[in-house]
Amino acid sequence: MLRREILTIAALSLLPVVAFAQDTVKIGLILPMTGQQASTGKQIDAAVKLYQAQHGTTVAGKKVEVILKDDTSVPDVTKRLAQELVVNDKVAVLAGFGITPSAMATAPIATQAKVPEVVMAAGTSSITEASPFVVRTSFTLAQSAVPMAEWAVKNGIKRVVTMVSDYGPGIDAEKSFSDRFKAEGGTIIENLRVPMRAPDFAPVLQKAADTKADALFVFVPSGAGAQFVKQFVERGLDKGGMKLIATGDVTDDDQLAGMGDAVVGVINAHNYSANHDSALNKSYVEAFRKANGGLRPNFMSVGGYDGMHLIYEALKKTGGDASGDKLMAAMKGLAWESPRGPISIDPDTRDIVQNIYIRKVEKKDGELYNVEFATIPNVKDPVKAAKK
Ligand code: DHB
Repeated sequence: MLRREILTIAALSLLPVVAFAQDTVKIGLILPMTGQQASTGKQIDAAVKLYQAQHGTTVAGKKVEVILKDDTSVPDVTKRLAQELVVNDKVAVLAGFGITPSAMATAPIATQAKVPEVVMAAGTSSITEASPFVVRTSFTLAQSAVPMAEWAVKNGIKRVVTMVSDYGPGIDAEKSFSDRFKAEGGTIIENLRVPMRAPDFAPVLQKAADTKADALFVFVPSGAGAQFVKQFVERGLDKGGMKLIATGDVTDDDQLAGMGDAVVGVINAHNYSANHDSALNKSYVEAFRKANGGLRPNFMSVGGYDGMHLIYEALKKTGGDASGDKLMAAMKGLAWESPRGPISIDPDTRDIVQNIYIRKVEKKDGELYNVEFATIPNVKDPVKAAKK
């Protein structure tokens, strides 16, 4: 056979594959489905499935296929999976990322391959600066910590000790809370940190108790709140007169119902409560519970649900063109109503703009909920806002 003929046959045999590839937009969804952060993976996976069940799997004439991979929340694994998804599966979008180190490890791949990286969970401010292809639908810790500090000052709390997980989001929470609290005249007695992996809170809780502060401000990642509260109660701190204030990661809807009455009255700040009072959220919670054996959706779930919405709406805007540059341009500035309230993507930073709610844990119909009682509208990431 002539060389040209061989090439033609080879090219023809590839045709159906190429046609299929062009008609399908693949999303590589990398989540911690096992290990310490498994609740984040479970919540986001469920939300992504719900979004597709409600909105279909075809958008702008393209079939949207989600390929789910478990990174066990080990960043080296995240990076390898991201590489494989780009090179072998030719995904148009990378999404998920349960923790900051996983999102950070993927950023160079997003840049090199020009593939959008939709961060649905991680919350360290600087993630969006790690690549021009990063866009975030979760939250930043400063978004919650700054309003929490402002509430504390206004409500007579003068001396605070902080306790955070010792990595990106914890350090952001500690710094943004402490800076704002001090700027408003408050005193930070001590900044305590606990390891992110397999934390034992007992030693730091003892130190916190010894400070006799008015309040303890806490951040731990989703999934660690119940263990923290258990040790808080074991040491009698719930009865010691030191108030517990927190980012809403601690009173996480995924675990809140099992935390017990010790958390009733805890004030915290966050972007989403399953108790959020809107028609859209009520139907979201109902559909989510129905599809997942009664599971209550948490703040991670809306990061996944809205991440899918962002991808679908961007594809509609590009007429189904899934090239990275076009998708990124289409994502910038998109605004919509989420189950958490109104949200948008800041066109300058690619970070999320959203309401932050001050909440109090209350028992409603026999179940614990974060009940929103004040709203700070359209909060941009305060860390990036301060740099401008
Ligand atoms: C991160 C993870 C969490 O589970 C959370 O609640 C907040 C931040 C993170 O790793 O960025």
